[in-house]
Amino acid sequence: MTTFSNTLFVGKVLLELNKIDSTNKHALKLLSKNKPSEGTVISAWNQEQGRGQIGRTWQSEPGKNLTFSIILYPTFLPAKKQFLLNQAIALGISDAISTFLPDVKVKWPNDIYIGNEKVCGVLIQNILSGTSIQSSIIGIGLNVNQTDFAKDLPNPSSLGLIAKKEFDLLQVLERLCEKIETRYLQLRGGNYDLIEKDYLKYLYRLQEESLFQYPEGEVFSGSIVGVSETGKLKIHHKKGEELFDIREVKFII
Ligand code: BTN
Repeated sequence: MTTFSNTLFVGKVLLELNKIDSTNKHALKLLSKNKPSEGTVISAWNQEQGRGQIGRTWQSEPGKNLTFSIILYPTFLPAKKQFLLNQAIALGISDAISTFLPDVKVKWPNDIYIGNEKVCGVLIQNILSGTSIQSSIIGIGLNVNQTDFAKDLPNPSSLGLIAKKEFDLLQVLERLCEKIETRYLQLRGGNYDLIEKDYLKYLYRLQEESLFQYPEGEVFSGSIVGVSETGKLKIHHKKGEELFDIREVKFII
């Protein structure tokens, strides 16, 4: 069994599956049966029914990309601060990708872009117990060596397409585990200011005039000025500052 030498706990247990419906679903199943050790990674060569944010799906060509989930127990984090976990994970992924390529951005809330193209999606599923988080499944889909994408996807790309070379999947996974662990330890250490500050450094189109759309269709111009504690996007437009959650606004450009 593969195990990484550069981490304390993330990826120390690595379950490499050949074919699975969804690694997040599999992680949920494991959690319902027993308590896997913190940092357990479930990775699939071929994920057939990948889940995305807000009920979307995640498509990935078998053997070309990373589709994996990490089991964490952020019991130290109050449920109302759960967006900090999203921020820490987005930062860990961005730090890892930045070791391979420049111009890495976090498109709110936690899509990872290189330039104007999406290379990675994240689906975090928290299991809450009262006011705290009992366990968390961090699902990550990173396009690594795929070169063809379905026409209906918005700006998809991969590390390989951008760097014009093939990457070793296991090496990329190891780097991701290392950098995610570092950011998770910052979170565990209560270093919230650093996480919030660095998240803004990576934030796509921060303080740049952009076009957005309300769900009813109306398009407006504004600029992102930050995110709230609960993870809402703060946009400044002609009527002042407005907060949006993921279903309330669409980024046009
Ligand atoms: C998104 O951008 O909508 C999030 C996509 C998250 C996809 C990953 S792939 C591994 C893990 N298992 C899933 O079913 N989904 C996540």
